[in-house]
Amino acid sequence: MDWQEPDMFEPVAHGNKPFGVRIPSLVVSRGKNDQLNFLTAMWFTPTGSEPSRMVVGILKRTLTYRLILERGEFVMSAPTDKMMDAVVFAGYISGHDVDKWKATGLTPVKPSKVSVPLIGEAIANVEYRLVRQIPFDDELDLFVGEALATHMRKGAMEGELYREDSDPLLYMGTKYDPAGKSLGKFYTHLGRIERADYDSPLLKKYLGRQKPR
Ligand SMILES: Cc1cc2nc3c(=O)[nH]c(=O)nc-3n(C[C@H](O)[C@H](O)[C@H](O)COP(=O)(O)O)c2cc1C
Repeated sequence: MDWQEPDMFEPVAHGNKPFGVRIPSLVVSRGKNDQLNFLTAMWFTPTGSEPSRMVVGILKRTLTYRLILERGEFVMSAPTDKMMDAVVFAGYISGHDVDKWKATGLTPVKPSKVSVPLIGEAIANVEYRLVRQIPFDDELDLFVGEALATHMRKGAMEGELYREDSDPLLYMGTKYDPAGKSLGKFYTHLGRIERADYDSPLLKKYLGRQKPR
């Protein structure tokens, strides 16, 4: 193999940031004493299909951590781009200190399978049953939720995809100046939607040549 020098790249201290453009989530929880809460989460990934599961890392010091364990259920809400203030707020302020539902005025909506509310202003809400708790490190556990019900805002999707004119919030991460000072967190909007090209010469040439496994 003729390996080239990496002249087209520069090393940066950005960790996972190249994969950073994603819809953030508000993780909603309810304690055994009916205390409601939500936090902003980015450490999550959909995993598996039948049933759909979600793996989300939750810090042990959060109120969310305790409330999810108390009820064994949670909801993940996908915000619209009008909810940026609530997303920023819920990522900085803890329910240990402030009632975030009251402070934001977001609307709790009846779920269908769990006993944790949906967020009425969100573009979508998914109800989860906690099926596994995986220790990760001193600060964080991974929670695995099995999706029990999904609620899409009417008209936001066509088939299983967001419509081009729908408005999910897309989070990009924190930007730093050369001295390492944070310039804030950045967000973007949904742009052009494009169907995959299954007639590409590359795919056509090799399709059908897979070995049986
Ligand atoms: C953009 C962003 C992403 C975050 N992602 C997570 C996450 O995935 N898991 C987590 O436990 N905390 C995450 N946090 C931190 C919590 O949102 C924050 O500690 C929150 O105040 C905890 O709220 P609670 O104590 O009410 O549960 C994130 C914060 C921000 C700003």
